[in-house]
Amino acid sequence: MAGGARAQRESGEAGGIALRDVWLDRGDAPLFRGLDLTLGERRIGLVGANGSGKSSLLRLINGLIVPARGEITVAGLDARAHRRDLPGRVGFVFQNVDHQILFPTVREEVAFGLAEQGLPRAEARAGAERLLAAHGCAGWGERAVEELSEGQKQLVCILAAIAPGPPILAMDEPLASLDLATRLSLLARLRALPQQILMASHDLDLLADFDRIVWLEAGAVAGDGPPREVLPRYRAHEMARAATAAGVLP
Ligand SMILES: Nc1ncnc2c1ncn2[C@@H]1O[C@H](COP(=O)(O)OP(=O)(O)O)[C@@H](O)[C@H]1O
Ligand SMILES: [Mg+2]
Repeated sequence: MAGGARAQRESGEAGGIALRDVWLDRGDAPLFRGLDLTLGERRIGLVGANGSGKSSLLRLINGLIVPARGEITVAGLDARAHRRDLPGRVGFVFQNVDHQILFPTVREEVAFGLAEQGLPRAEARAGAERLLAAHGCAGWGERAVEELSEGQKQLVCILAAIAPGPPILAMDEPLASLDLATRLSLLARLRALPQQILMASHDLDLLADFDRIVWLEAGAVAGDGPPREVLPRYRAHEMARAATAAGVLP
């Protein structure tokens, strides 16, 4: 871990997430078997093959699911005791935008989290408009969400998650259906945010300048460290797996 990141974690500046001896079954099968992770860096990338547990980890942190055993602390809160408070601390961006979007118009979708915080409706709407304008989406407020492209919907979901200003953003492959220019500009905006970001992604190039990469393999940590150490190992592992699957290697 980089010294700066360690200092940051110890200073408590970032939101901070800790899992201690976490056990979780998914369906009938065990997934996490005593998972221990302390996540304090500002930008953490989660990588791993499909089914390795990335989405499950993000859902534990947001309180959408609870572990069978173990302790999870999120931004100073015990996840079991404060499950209902977690969505206020962890903005969540789902992999599938249709699981997230609740309202017919962009303005309502982005304003929702602000209204939930107790802002009067007019102020929540004005806040949503300001956020949209700040992210290059001035004039989007009136638009019907269902008429947006997948990438535009993803952008709206990200802005809706950011709007209430949670200390942590948990993002499940949030950039997958964005075009390259939108992805790069959004990533630049995400970098500038004060929030701690935990992002699952298959786009390894985008994670190259993150502070830390956690590589999950069948519910266990297979690699953990700076991108320059973990990403090449993960890439090589996946290429070997692909070659084996294609019958190129014995
Ligand atoms: N709702 C669910 N019910 C049963 N099993 C699930 C459910 N969601 C995920 N799983 C299983 O849990 C494991 C981890 O899945 P997931 O956390 O979605 O991994 P990833 O996001 O890395 O693809 C997989 O074996 C998957 O089949
Ligand atoms: Mg997933």
